[in-house]
Amino acid sequence: PLQKAAVDAPEGGIAALRRQARDCRACDLWKPATQTVFGMGPSDARIVVIGEQPGDQEDLAGKPFVGPAGKLFDRALEEAGVDRGALYVTNAVKHFKFEPRGKVRLHKRANAGEQAACRPWLAAEIDRIRPDGIVCMGAMAAQAVFGASFRLMAQRGEWLDLPDGRKALATVHPSYLLRLPDHEAREAGFADFVSDLKLIRKLLG
Ligand code: URA
Repeated sequence: PLQKAAVDAPEGGIAALRRQARDCRACDLWKPATQTVFGMGPSDARIVVIGEQPGDQEDLAGKPFVGPAGKLFDRALEEAGVDRGALYVTNAVKHFKFEPRGKVRLHKRANAGEQAACRPWLAAEIDRIRPDGIVCMGAMAAQAVFGASFRLMAQRGEWLDLPDGRKALATVHPSYLLRLPDHEAREAGFADFVSDLKLIRKLLG
């Protein structure tokens, strides 16, 4: 799935990719959005973490996972003993999609066409960074990496082999945990998320 190119294969290293992605017009999400939110982290990171799409705060900051989901991700990483600074963190879709509702911008899920249009960027990021492992948070990220038939809740929580020899791991998205209605479910979900993230340390050895 990562090879399916909707735009010309982007060229150059990570910094060059980031510059090119600023002007991406492969779908219409750039129009209402503030800016492209490209991946962040060391270009020689051994782990790439993929989220779904930027939210309101990421759109304004131009950085992935800085809002409420990002805060929860930070807490989970800390509990798992993983340094976020060592990870390259990105998203399957690089623009915020929303519906204006009075003063707020309501998050909307990117559709299949928008996800496909953004895929060459994600493929290029992984190609340049050449990580040992890819961590997919949420179904959108997992399906971008493993294909549309991937079932998150059945296949989460273990390193799986990709055809290119890399390892990839799927886990829940922190926003999913934030949406769980009761406290107990949230606590249990968070604990499982932390155990999945601990597998990063296991891969790094
Ligand atoms: N949710 C995501 O999937 N990515 C972000 O960057 C922020 C929230």
